[in-house]
Amino acid sequence: MFRRAVCPGSFDPIHNGHLDIIERASRLYDVVHVAVLVNPSKKGMFSVDERVAMIEEITAGYGNVKVESHQGLLVDYCRDRDIPAIVKGLRAVSDFDYELQMAQMNFGLTGVETLFVPTNPTYSFQSSSLIKEVAILGGDVSHLVPDLVLRRLTERIAERSSQPTKP
Ligand code: PNS
Repeated sequence: MFRRAVCPGSFDPIHNGHLDIIERASRLYDVVHVAVLVNPSKKGMFSVDERVAMIEEITAGYGNVKVESHQGLLVDYCRDRDIPAIVKGLRAVSDFDYELQMAQMNFGLTGVETLFVPTNPTYSFQSSSLIKEVAILGGDVSHLVPDLVLRRLTERIAERSSQPTKP
């Protein structure tokens, strides 16, 4: 049997906590799809194509990770590719309520299962939005993101700060 799973998210940008879950999933499944979900109402720091390109480069060494973007329902992404399982990391109890709601909604829609992986405690405080906030304010996030992401983050912040501010 060929086992597939998806690790979905916004990944704006991917950080070490995400990567830990993707790497662990890649040891459990034959193919792990990383789906970068497009949220048209949210303008990210990185375009969806930039996020996909970073994740592709960072996960290339795993050998069984396929990265794609998707606009629309996650259950449709899974159904179109015959993916029976969604793998999500749980950082803390505070994640659980919302994650359980999404898992139950997704199961009710198409029967796709969600498997929760406890986040490695080293990464349990990490979130893309906090990492961006700290980096924008000049804090060191080098221990929280892969080197490639650190470089892109630094470049993006420098580009933004060199743009003239609107009155
Ligand atoms: O990294 P995030 O923002 O916590 O990921 C949330 C994400 C993208 C996995 C979730 O919002 C999602 O699945 N969005 C796709 C649209 C969808 O299927 N919505 C119904 C969820 S029950």
